[in-house]
Amino acid sequence: MTLIDRLVENPYTFHYLRKIAEANYRATKRRMLDLLDPDAPTLDLGCGTGEFAPLFRAEGYVGIDISLPYLRFAKRRMPRYGFALAQGQELPLADGSVGQVLINGVLHHLGEELARRLVGEARRVLRSGGRLLLIEDIEPERPPLTTRLIHAMDAGEHIRARQDYPDLLEGDLEIEREEEYRSGLCVYGLWLARRR
Ligand SMILES: C[S@@+](CC[C@H](N)C(=O)[O-])C[C@H]1O[C@@H](n2cnc3c(N)ncnc32)[C@H](O)[C@@H]1O
Repeated sequence: MTLIDRLVENPYTFHYLRKIAEANYRATKRRMLDLLDPDAPTLDLGCGTGEFAPLFRAEGYVGIDISLPYLRFAKRRMPRYGFALAQGQELPLADGSVGQVLINGVLHHLGEELARRLVGEARRVLRSGGRLLLIEDIEPERPPLTTRLIHAMDAGEHIRARQDYPDLLEGDLEIEREEEYRSGLCVYGLWLARRR
């Protein structure tokens, strides 16, 4: 296991190093607040250490992740919020039971088949008319040195080009907005889709 693997595995170093690299997520949080409803029942799919939970009402929020250390870290800091250990590609939630889904920085860890299954589950649990906000690291055409460094350190082995993402949001997800933006040292693609 490399030093980077160890730093990523530990919830404290994962949480605080990312916060520094992302300039406290100012650009990302502004977009989440603009595009999602803080009061709607929200699924934060691949929630990690729950950085974005406080943007939403505690009673309506559930964060799901495969990392128990991350979830424990999140629950200790935010006991009123719901966090559960589950695979994003097999969600323990009923069809149409969620008002909106946030997927931030998860798909670039997953290969094609797993990524499609995870998005398929997000679509299944999303109510008709509900919104899915997907934000992912992208590989810009001419990446600056900082982006190349971050990507070299990132545990995500499937960083895709911006144009590869819409294809993952297939079927009854209609893309309403798409943009590229910078968050600290990182470059992100954002897609807001509405379930028909
Ligand atoms: C880069 S982190 C992003 C965490 C959080 N969304 C954030 O932005 O702070 C990626 C997260 O996806 C989780 N993850 C990876 N594969 C997953 C899967 N199949 N189902 C659910 N979560 C997964 C990881 O455990 C990790 O917490």
